[in-house]
Amino acid sequence: MTSAIPAGRPSASTSSTQPKQAPPCTMVIFGAAGDLTKRLLMPSLYDLASARRLDAGFQILGIDLAEQDTAAWRQSLTTTMQSFTKDHTAEFYVPKLDHSAWQWVSDRLTYQIGDFSKPETFAAIKKAIGDGSAIFYCAVAARFFGTVVDGLGQAGLLTQTDTAFRRVVIEKPFGADLPSAQALNARILQHADESQFFRIDHFLGKDSVQSIMAIRFGNGMIEPTWNRDYIDHVEITAAETIGVEGRGRFYEPTGALRDMVPNHMFTLLTMVAMEPPNTYDAQAVRAEKARLMQAIRPLTPGDAVRGQYGPGTEFGQPVPGYRQEPQVAPDSRTETYVALRLHIENWRWAGVPFYIRTGKRLSGRRTEISIHYKPAPYRVFGDAPTAPNVLRLLIDPEEGTDTQFAAKRPGPDMSLGRVVSAMRYKDFFDEKPNVGYETLLYDCMLGDATLFQRADAIEASWAALQPVLDSWARGEGDVETYGAGSSGPPGADALLAADGRTWSKLVE
Ligand code: BG6
Repeated sequence: MTSAIPAGRPSASTSSTQPKQAPPCTMVIFGAAGDLTKRLLMPSLYDLASARRLDAGFQILGIDLAEQDTAAWRQSLTTTMQSFTKDHTAEFYVPKLDHSAWQWVSDRLTYQIGDFSKPETFAAIKKAIGDGSAIFYCAVAARFFGTVVDGLGQAGLLTQTDTAFRRVVIEKPFGADLPSAQALNARILQHADESQFFRIDHFLGKDSVQSIMAIRFGNGMIEPTWNRDYIDHVEITAAETIGVEGRGRFYEPTGALRDMVPNHMFTLLTMVAMEPPNTYDAQAVRAEKARLMQAIRPLTPGDAVRGQYGPGTEFGQPVPGYRQEPQVAPDSRTETYVALRLHIENWRWAGVPFYIRTGKRLSGRRTEISIHYKPAPYRVFGDAPTAPNVLRLLIDPEEGTDTQFAAKRPGPDMSLGRVVSAMRYKDFFDEKPNVGYETLLYDCMLGDATLFQRADAIEASWAALQPVLDSWARGEGDVETYGAGSSGPPGADALLAADGRTWSKLVE
């Protein structure tokens, strides 16, 4: 695993030490004319170029159906990159573009019109990349993952040599349920070894997510209490204020559970709940993650609540309900919110519920994990109210930790008050957190799979969720409507109330 890559550093950096460069390769992007390429892949390659992590021999070959040539592709990507300097809300915002770094990337772009279902597309790729190393990036809709890998395999593009690697990056969602994930794994593994597949989850590229391991395993004071003896329950939240944002075509058959849970939410779960690996290498870390996924007790339908946003108000502005969004059926039952209760069946966590919630058009944007500790075992201060101990791991948009505990209020009486000790990464480290893909792309170039998902872990994630998916497929369980801008459906509160608990507030 690599350290975080400083993003947006000017190439004329005064630093004399040359950062470790990735080996030369061609990155072949399927879906080159799509949104992911523009919004995330190009900014990440630009960041890597700025940080001088890419080899002079690096090349990018874009493949897509769109009728355009290399010059037009370069121009459209340049326009998008320039637009990021004016958009503070973009995932990738830079006040000023480092033109030499972007030029470096742009000079290496080649575009080729191609249909992923046609052998001639792959024959042309073979000709273009020759015997060199290559990363094939599937920035395409999930239904094409198998087709692209079949095409690569059949063209002999996945055969590695002593001097050339061939790797495939696969986006999410990986499968739509357990049988389809198993079938996709079986299909792609006919063509190449598991070590050649890099199943990407951009949450794992976030420094604040990787840092959970650093906090847990890099300190002596955390792990001793990180278990069922001291922890009452854990909440994992990924709340968004945005709606479906014109992605109705993707979202309608997907929904919040498939879009967020077996990937992003379970990534957060593994970081917080996995056992310490013996070493920090891909094999050891991924083995622990898979073990954790396999320890999740399959959920029952009663462990899940789903909701869909209706019309409402977000930041004072009226916003439409999900059913009024483009490319969404007027009677859609797709969930835009899901809350889950799950249990991990091992010695560390037996009896500790993990509550997960994620949704769109909620009152606040916040991705965080909160660890709720059990109260002090004995009340030295009689009935004086104390404060529950909560450790909040803040992932996004704030990045840091908040530790809540009780302290004495000033004055003659021994009375306790709630205090919060806040740490923010930006107050300690100069490096700017990256958009998430830089580290992942760079690790893939180096062949480091620590932060990528292994086949068995993905299948175990789906296995845990399958009873809920089956129940929903039978039409069971309400899809509760919640107002846009609210904290979610009432059923989510009832899920915790049944256990005598409440969710943390989305907005303070
Ligand atoms: C994506 C989902 O994978 O993650 C989106 O498809 C979601 O629906 C996004 O909005 C959330 O990621 P982030 O990094 O913005 O929290």
